[in-house]
Amino acid sequence: MTTTPPQWNPDAPEVQADQRAAYDSLRERCPLAHSASQHWSVLRHGEVMQVLHDHATYSSAVSNHPAVPNGYDQPQHTQYRRALDPFFAPERMAHFEPVCRALSAATVQEALALGGALEITQEFALPFAVRVQSAFLGWPTLLQDELLGWLRRSQAATRSGDRTQTAAVAREFENLVERVREARRDAPPTQDISCELMHTHVDGRLLDLRELASVLRNWTVGEVGTIAASIGILLYWLANHPDWQQRLREDPALLPTAIDEVLRIDGPLVANRRITTRAAELGGCPLAAGSRVSINWIAANRDPRVFGDPDAFHIDRDPALNLLYGAGIHVCPGAPLARLELRVLMEEILARTTRISLDAGRPPTRAVYPDAGYATLRMRLR
Ligand code: HEM
Repeated sequence: MTTTPPQWNPDAPEVQADQRAAYDSLRERCPLAHSASQHWSVLRHGEVMQVLHDHATYSSAVSNHPAVPNGYDQPQHTQYRRALDPFFAPERMAHFEPVCRALSAATVQEALALGGALEITQEFALPFAVRVQSAFLGWPTLLQDELLGWLRRSQAATRSGDRTQTAAVAREFENLVERVREARRDAPPTQDISCELMHTHVDGRLLDLRELASVLRNWTVGEVGTIAASIGILLYWLANHPDWQQRLREDPALLPTAIDEVLRIDGPLVANRRITTRAAELGGCPLAAGSRVSINWIAANRDPRVFGDPDAFHIDRDPALNLLYGAGIHVCPGAPLARLELRVLMEEILARTTRISLDAGRPPTRAVYPDAGYATLRMRLR
Protein backbone atom coordinates (compact mmCIF):
# COMPACT_ATOMS: atom_id res chain seq x y z
CA MET A 1 0.00 0.00 0.00
CA THR A 2 1.36 3.43 -0.88
CA THR A 3 0.89 6.53 1.29
CA THR A 4 0.52 10.17 0.29
CA PRO A 5 2.93 12.19 2.42
CA PRO A 6 1.91 15.63 3.73
CA GLN A 7 3.15 18.78 2.00
CA TRP A 8 4.59 21.40 4.33
CA ASN A 9 6.25 24.79 4.23
CA PRO A 10 9.51 25.12 6.19
CA ASP A 11 9.16 28.93 6.01
CA ALA A 12 5.71 29.01 7.67
CA PRO A 13 5.74 31.15 10.85
CA GLU A 14 4.58 28.27 13.09
CA VAL A 15 7.47 26.07 11.80
CA GLN A 16 10.00 28.85 12.30
CA ALA A 17 8.75 29.51 15.83
CA ASP A 18 9.35 25.88 16.89
CA GLN A 19 10.79 23.52 14.27
CA ARG A 20 10.91 20.58 16.74
CA ALA A 21 7.17 20.73 17.34
CA ALA A 22 6.57 20.98 13.58
CA TYR A 23 8.70 17.86 12.88
CA ASP A 24 6.94 15.95 15.70
CA SER A 25 3.58 16.72 14.22
CA LEU A 26 4.62 15.79 10.66
CA ARG A 27 6.28 12.53 11.85
CA GLU A 28 3.05 11.43 13.52
CA ARG A 29 1.15 11.96 10.28
CA CYS A 30 3.51 10.06 7.97
CA PRO A 31 7.07 8.59 7.84
CA LEU A 32 7.92 11.14 5.10
CA ALA A 33 6.86 14.70 4.31
CA HIS A 34 7.48 16.80 1.21
CA SER A 35 8.38 20.47 0.83
CA ALA A 36 9.64 22.57 -2.07
CA SER A 37 12.94 23.46 -0.36
CA GLN A 38 13.79 20.35 1.69
CA HIS A 39 12.20 17.85 -0.73
CA TRP A 40 11.59 14.44 0.94
CA SER A 41 12.09 14.70 4.71
CA VAL A 42 12.50 11.31 6.38
CA LEU A 43 11.05 11.63 9.86
CA ARG A 44 10.77 8.25 11.56
CA HIS A 45 13.64 6.32 13.13
CA GLY A 46 12.99 3.09 11.18
CA GLU A 47 12.96 4.80 7.77
CA VAL A 48 16.04 6.89 8.65
CA MET A 49 17.93 3.67 9.50
CA GLN A 50 16.84 2.21 6.17
CA VAL A 51 18.29 5.25 4.32
CA LEU A 52 21.53 5.18 6.34
CA HIS A 53 22.23 1.53 5.61
CA ASP A 54 21.17 1.34 1.94
CA HIS A 55 24.03 3.30 0.32
CA ALA A 56 23.37 1.78 -3.09
CA THR A 57 19.95 3.48 -3.23
CA TYR A 58 20.61 6.59 -1.10
CA SER A 59 23.77 8.26 -2.39
CA SER A 60 25.67 11.06 -0.65
CA ALA A 61 26.79 12.58 -3.97
CA VAL A 62 24.19 15.34 -3.63
CA SER A 63 26.19 18.33 -4.83
CA ASN A 64 28.21 19.45 -7.85
CA HIS A 65 30.92 20.58 -5.42
CA PRO A 66 31.99 17.34 -3.77
CA ALA A 67 32.69 17.63 -0.05
CA VAL A 68 35.35 15.45 1.59
CA PRO A 69 34.33 12.93 2.89
CA ASN A 70 30.56 13.54 3.18
CA GLY A 71 29.77 14.07 -0.52
CA TYR A 72 31.25 10.72 -1.58
CA ASP A 73 30.01 7.14 -1.81
CA GLN A 74 32.04 3.95 -1.52
CA PRO A 75 34.79 3.22 -2.48
CA GLN A 76 36.22 6.82 -2.48
CA HIS A 77 34.40 7.58 0.79
CA THR A 78 36.12 4.62 2.50
CA GLN A 79 39.55 5.84 1.32
CA TYR A 80 38.96 9.34 2.71
CA ARG A 81 37.61 8.02 6.02
CA ARG A 82 40.55 5.62 6.40
CA ALA A 83 42.96 8.56 6.01
CA LEU A 84 41.03 11.07 8.14
CA ASP A 85 39.48 9.08 11.01
CA PRO A 86 42.84 8.64 12.85
CA PHE A 87 42.80 12.40 13.59
CA PHE A 88 40.04 11.66 16.12
CA ALA A 89 41.62 8.52 17.65
CA PRO A 90 41.50 8.08 21.47
CA GLU A 91 45.21 8.97 21.97
CA ARG A 92 44.69 12.22 20.01
CA MET A 93 41.73 13.09 22.21
CA ALA A 94 43.69 12.31 25.40
CA HIS A 95 46.50 14.56 24.17
CA PHE A 96 44.07 17.40 23.38
CA GLU A 97 42.07 17.19 26.63
CA PRO A 98 44.35 19.48 28.74
CA VAL A 99 44.26 22.16 25.98
CA CYS A 100 40.49 21.86 25.76
CA ARG A 101 40.20 22.08 29.56
CA ALA A 102 42.36 25.22 29.74
CA LEU A 103 40.22 26.90 27.03
CA SER A 104 37.01 25.80 28.77
CA ALA A 105 38.16 27.10 32.16
CA ALA A 106 39.25 30.43 30.63
CA THR A 107 35.91 30.84 28.81
CA VAL A 108 33.91 30.20 32.00
CA GLN A 109 36.16 32.46 34.09
CA GLU A 110 35.77 35.31 31.57
CA ALA A 111 31.97 34.95 31.71
CA LEU A 112 31.95 34.94 35.52
CA ALA A 113 34.33 37.90 35.67
CA LEU A 114 31.78 39.88 33.63
CA GLY A 115 29.13 39.19 36.28
CA GLY A 116 27.81 35.92 34.82
CA ALA A 117 24.85 37.49 32.99
CA LEU A 118 25.28 36.79 29.29
CA GLU A 119 23.76 35.84 25.97
CA ILE A 120 24.92 32.25 25.48
CA THR A 121 24.71 31.59 21.71
CA GLN A 122 26.69 34.53 20.27
CA GLU A 123 28.71 35.65 23.29
CA PHE A 124 29.71 32.33 24.83
CA ALA A 125 29.08 29.21 22.75
CA LEU A 126 30.17 30.34 19.26
CA PRO A 127 33.45 31.96 20.39
CA PHE A 128 34.19 28.86 22.54
CA ALA A 129 33.59 26.49 19.62
CA VAL A 130 35.84 28.55 17.33
CA ARG A 131 38.57 28.79 19.97
CA VAL A 132 38.63 25.04 20.56
CA GLN A 133 38.55 24.13 16.87
CA SER A 134 41.35 26.60 16.08
CA ALA A 135 43.44 25.12 18.91
CA PHE A 136 42.73 21.61 17.60
CA LEU A 137 43.98 22.63 14.14
CA GLY A 138 46.98 24.57 15.48
CA TRP A 139 45.70 27.93 14.12
CA PRO A 140 46.90 31.19 15.73
CA THR A 141 44.55 33.54 17.66
CA LEU A 142 44.44 35.98 14.75
CA LEU A 143 42.85 33.34 12.51
CA GLN A 144 40.17 32.63 15.15
CA ASP A 145 38.56 36.04 14.65
CA GLU A 146 38.75 35.58 10.91
CA LEU A 147 37.17 32.13 11.19
CA LEU A 148 34.34 33.47 13.36
CA GLY A 149 33.69 36.27 10.86
CA TRP A 150 33.76 33.78 7.98
CA LEU A 151 31.33 31.44 9.73
CA ARG A 152 28.84 34.25 10.26
CA ARG A 153 29.09 35.25 6.57
CA SER A 154 28.79 31.60 5.54
CA GLN A 155 25.61 31.14 7.63
CA ALA A 156 24.13 34.31 6.11
CA ALA A 157 24.99 33.09 2.59
CA THR A 158 23.40 29.66 3.23
CA ARG A 159 20.28 31.33 4.58
CA SER A 160 20.05 33.67 1.58
CA GLY A 161 20.08 30.73 -0.86
CA ASP A 162 22.03 33.03 -3.26
CA ARG A 163 24.57 30.95 -5.19
CA THR A 164 26.86 33.92 -5.94
CA GLN A 165 27.14 34.57 -2.21
CA THR A 166 27.76 30.91 -1.32
CA ALA A 167 30.40 30.63 -4.07
CA ALA A 168 32.10 33.80 -2.75
CA VAL A 169 32.31 32.48 0.83
CA ALA A 170 33.62 29.13 -0.46
CA ARG A 171 36.41 30.98 -2.35
CA GLU A 172 37.13 33.04 0.76
CA PHE A 173 37.66 29.85 2.77
CA GLU A 174 39.97 28.42 0.10
CA ASN A 175 42.08 31.60 0.36
CA LEU A 176 42.25 31.19 4.14
CA VAL A 177 43.40 27.57 3.72
CA GLU A 178 45.95 28.64 1.09
CA ARG A 179 47.44 30.97 3.74
CA VAL A 180 47.40 28.20 6.36
CA ARG A 181 49.26 25.99 3.85
CA GLU A 182 51.71 28.73 2.86
CA ALA A 183 52.57 29.46 6.51
CA ARG A 184 53.50 25.78 6.96
CA ARG A 185 55.43 25.19 3.74
CA ASP A 186 58.76 24.68 5.54
CA ALA A 187 57.35 23.42 8.86
CA PRO A 188 58.00 19.86 10.09
CA PRO A 189 55.12 17.54 9.07
CA THR A 190 54.13 16.89 12.68
CA GLN A 191 54.09 20.56 13.85
CA ASP A 192 50.28 20.61 14.17
CA ILE A 193 47.17 18.92 12.77
CA SER A 194 47.01 21.30 9.79
CA CYS A 195 50.59 20.26 8.86
CA GLU A 196 49.75 16.61 9.30
CA LEU A 197 46.72 17.02 7.02
CA MET A 198 48.97 18.58 4.35
CA HIS A 199 51.09 15.40 4.48
CA THR A 200 48.16 12.98 4.55
CA HIS A 201 47.98 10.48 1.69
CA VAL A 202 44.71 9.26 0.23
CA ASP A 203 44.96 6.41 -2.24
CA GLY A 204 48.74 6.97 -2.52
CA ARG A 205 48.69 10.75 -3.18
CA LEU A 206 48.59 13.95 -1.11
CA LEU A 207 45.31 15.86 -0.63
CA ASP A 208 45.17 18.78 -3.12
CA LEU A 209 44.16 22.33 -2.09
CA ARG A 210 40.47 21.80 -2.85
CA GLU A 211 40.35 18.59 -0.82
CA LEU A 212 42.28 20.17 2.03
CA ALA A 213 39.93 23.18 2.06
CA SER A 214 36.93 20.87 1.95
CA VAL A 215 38.18 18.76 4.90
CA LEU A 216 38.94 21.87 6.95
CA ARG A 217 35.61 23.44 6.04
CA ASN A 218 33.75 20.32 7.17
CA TRP A 219 35.75 20.12 10.37
CA THR A 220 35.18 23.78 11.22
CA VAL A 221 31.58 24.16 10.01
CA GLY A 222 30.83 20.61 11.26
CA GLU A 223 32.15 21.52 14.68
CA VAL A 224 31.18 25.14 15.29
CA GLY A 225 27.45 25.11 14.48
CA THR A 226 26.70 21.84 16.23
CA ILE A 227 28.87 22.49 19.29
CA ALA A 228 27.49 26.02 19.76
CA ALA A 229 23.90 24.74 19.45
CA SER A 230 24.66 21.86 21.86
CA ILE A 231 26.03 24.23 24.52
CA GLY A 232 22.87 26.35 24.45
CA ILE A 233 20.62 23.28 24.57
CA LEU A 234 22.56 21.78 27.49
CA LEU A 235 22.65 25.00 29.54
CA TYR A 236 18.94 25.61 28.95
CA TRP A 237 18.21 22.06 30.13
CA LEU A 238 20.41 22.42 33.22
CA ALA A 239 18.71 25.71 34.11
CA ASN A 240 15.35 23.94 33.95
CA HIS A 241 16.55 20.88 35.94
CA PRO A 242 18.20 22.18 39.13
CA ASP A 243 17.99 18.66 40.61
CA TRP A 244 20.16 17.32 37.77
CA GLN A 245 22.46 20.34 37.99
CA GLN A 246 23.21 19.29 41.57
CA ARG A 247 23.47 15.59 40.77
CA LEU A 248 25.94 16.22 37.93
CA ARG A 249 28.03 18.54 40.12
CA GLU A 250 28.28 15.71 42.65
CA ASP A 251 28.78 12.94 40.08
CA PRO A 252 30.34 14.33 36.86
CA ALA A 253 30.96 10.76 35.66
CA LEU A 254 27.28 10.79 34.58
CA LEU A 255 27.90 13.70 32.20
CA PRO A 256 28.74 11.79 28.97
CA THR A 257 25.49 9.79 29.09
CA ALA A 258 23.44 12.76 30.28
CA ILE A 259 24.77 14.97 27.46
CA ASP A 260 23.91 12.44 24.73
CA GLU A 261 20.39 11.99 26.18
CA VAL A 262 19.68 15.75 26.43
CA LEU A 263 20.87 16.17 22.83
CA ARG A 264 18.62 13.31 21.74
CA ILE A 265 15.59 15.14 23.15
CA ASP A 266 16.66 18.46 21.63
CA GLY A 267 18.97 17.90 18.65
CA PRO A 268 21.75 20.34 17.66
CA LEU A 269 21.71 19.29 13.98
CA VAL A 270 18.57 19.28 11.84
CA ALA A 271 19.29 17.32 8.69
CA ASN A 272 21.69 15.79 6.16
CA ARG A 273 21.00 15.03 2.54
CA ARG A 274 20.95 12.03 0.16
CA ILE A 275 19.82 11.45 -3.43
CA THR A 276 18.21 8.27 -4.77
CA THR A 277 20.18 6.43 -7.46
CA ARG A 278 17.07 4.46 -8.55
CA ALA A 279 13.35 4.28 -7.93
CA ALA A 280 12.56 3.18 -4.38
CA GLU A 281 9.77 2.94 -1.85
CA LEU A 282 10.25 4.32 1.65
CA GLY A 283 7.68 4.24 4.44
CA GLY A 284 5.03 3.38 1.84
CA CYS A 285 5.95 6.40 -0.34
CA PRO A 286 7.23 5.86 -3.88
CA LEU A 287 10.43 7.82 -4.66
CA ALA A 288 11.58 8.32 -8.25
CA ALA A 289 15.26 7.97 -9.18
CA GLY A 290 17.04 11.28 -8.49
CA SER A 291 14.76 12.20 -5.54
CA ARG A 292 16.35 14.50 -2.96
CA VAL A 293 16.04 13.14 0.55
CA SER A 294 16.61 14.96 3.84
CA ILE A 295 17.37 12.81 6.89
CA ASN A 296 15.71 14.65 9.76
CA TRP A 297 17.75 13.76 12.87
CA ILE A 298 15.60 15.83 15.23
CA ALA A 299 12.38 14.05 14.25
CA ALA A 300 13.92 10.54 14.21
CA ASN A 301 15.53 10.96 17.64
CA ARG A 302 12.13 11.89 19.12
CA ASP A 303 10.23 9.03 17.50
CA PRO A 304 7.97 7.52 20.20
CA ARG A 305 8.03 4.17 18.35
CA VAL A 306 11.66 3.82 19.51
CA PHE A 307 11.97 6.19 22.47
CA GLY A 308 8.93 5.73 24.73
CA ASP A 309 7.91 9.12 26.20
CA PRO A 310 10.50 10.86 23.97
CA ASP A 311 10.55 14.16 25.91
CA ALA A 312 11.44 12.40 29.18
CA PHE A 313 15.11 12.40 30.19
CA HIS A 314 16.17 8.79 30.88
CA ILE A 315 19.84 8.28 31.61
CA ASP A 316 19.54 4.53 30.99
CA ARG A 317 18.22 4.50 27.41
CA ASP A 318 19.98 2.25 24.85
CA PRO A 319 22.80 4.46 23.42
CA ALA A 320 22.86 2.40 20.21
CA LEU A 321 19.46 3.84 19.23
CA ASN A 322 20.48 7.49 19.66
CA LEU A 323 21.10 9.05 16.21
CA LEU A 324 22.83 12.18 17.56
CA TYR A 325 26.01 11.38 15.61
CA GLY A 326 24.29 9.42 12.83
CA ALA A 327 24.90 5.76 11.97
CA GLY A 328 26.41 3.65 9.20
CA ILE A 329 29.37 4.59 7.02
CA HIS A 330 28.83 8.37 7.34
CA VAL A 331 28.61 8.28 11.16
CA CYS A 332 30.22 11.44 12.56
CA PRO A 333 34.03 11.06 12.61
CA GLY A 334 34.28 14.10 14.92
CA ALA A 335 32.05 12.55 17.63
CA PRO A 336 35.01 11.83 19.97
CA LEU A 337 36.09 15.48 19.74
CA ALA A 338 32.53 16.77 20.16
CA ARG A 339 31.98 14.54 23.20
CA LEU A 340 35.30 15.67 24.71
CA GLU A 341 34.52 19.38 24.21
CA LEU A 342 31.01 19.16 25.64
CA ARG A 343 32.00 17.03 28.64
CA VAL A 344 35.00 19.17 29.60
CA LEU A 345 33.10 22.46 29.17
CA MET A 346 30.15 21.19 31.25
CA GLU A 347 32.56 19.90 33.94
CA GLU A 348 34.20 23.33 34.13
CA ILE A 349 30.87 25.20 34.19
CA LEU A 350 29.38 22.97 36.89
CA ALA A 351 32.55 23.06 39.02
CA ARG A 352 32.84 26.86 38.85
CA THR A 353 29.18 27.74 39.49
CA THR A 354 26.57 27.04 42.15
CA ARG A 355 23.58 28.09 40.06
CA ILE A 356 22.81 28.15 36.32
CA SER A 357 19.53 29.93 35.59
CA LEU A 358 17.59 31.63 32.80
CA ASP A 359 17.27 35.40 32.65
CA ALA A 360 13.58 35.54 33.58
CA GLY A 361 13.03 38.93 31.94
CA ARG A 362 14.29 37.88 28.50
CA PRO A 363 12.85 34.62 27.15
CA PRO A 364 14.99 32.63 24.68
CA THR A 365 14.23 32.43 20.95
CA ARG A 366 14.58 29.18 19.00
CA ALA A 367 16.91 28.93 16.00
CA VAL A 368 15.46 28.62 12.51
CA TYR A 369 16.48 25.96 9.93
CA PRO A 370 19.25 25.21 8.96
CA ASP A 371 20.31 26.05 12.52
CA ALA A 372 19.08 24.23 15.63
CA GLY A 373 19.01 25.04 19.34
CA TYR A 374 18.60 28.68 20.38
CA ALA A 375 19.05 31.84 18.31
CA THR A 376 19.29 33.84 21.55
CA LEU A 377 19.53 32.55 25.10
CA ARG A 378 20.10 34.92 28.01
CA MET A 379 21.29 33.25 31.19
CA ARG A 380 22.93 33.84 34.56
CA LEU A 381 25.90 31.81 35.75
CA ARG A 382 26.71 32.23 39.44
C1 HEM B 1 27.57 17.85 18.75
C2 HEM B 1 28.35 17.91 17.69
C3 HEM B 1 28.13 17.13 16.42
C4 HEM B 1 27.01 16.50 15.94
C5 HEM B 1 25.64 16.42 16.59
C6 HEM B 1 27.37 15.89 14.67
C7 HEM B 1 26.50 15.11 13.93
C8 HEM B 1 26.84 14.47 12.74
C9 HEM B 1 25.98 13.58 12.02
C10 HEM B 1 24.56 13.19 12.41
C11 HEM B 1 26.68 13.14 10.91
C12 HEM B 1 26.19 12.16 9.84
C13 HEM B 1 25.84 12.88 8.57
C14 HEM B 1 25.27 11.97 7.47
O1 HEM B 1 24.96 10.81 7.68
O2 HEM B 1 25.11 12.52 6.37
C15 HEM B 1 27.96 13.81 10.93
C16 HEM B 1 28.93 13.68 9.96
C17 HEM B 1 30.11 14.40 9.97
N1 HEM B 1 30.62 15.17 11.00
FE1 HEM B 1 29.71 15.58 12.75
N2 HEM B 1 28.66 16.19 14.40
C18 HEM B 1 29.18 16.92 15.44
C19 HEM B 1 30.48 17.37 15.56
C20 HEM B 1 31.47 17.23 14.61
C21 HEM B 1 32.85 17.62 14.77
C22 HEM B 1 33.45 18.19 16.05
C23 HEM B 1 33.47 17.37 13.58
C24 HEM B 1 34.91 17.58 13.15
C25 HEM B 1 35.78 18.30 13.78
C26 HEM B 1 32.49 16.79 12.69
C27 HEM B 1 32.72 16.41 11.38
C28 HEM B 1 31.85 15.65 10.62
C29 HEM B 1 32.16 15.18 9.28
C30 HEM B 1 33.44 15.47 8.47
C31 HEM B 1 31.06 14.39 8.86
C32 HEM B 1 30.89 13.67 7.52
C33 HEM B 1 31.26 12.21 7.66
C34 HEM B 1 31.02 11.36 6.44
O3 HEM B 1 30.21 11.74 5.59
O4 HEM B 1 31.65 10.31 6.34
N3 HEM B 1 31.29 16.71 13.34
N4 HEM B 1 28.05 14.60 12.08
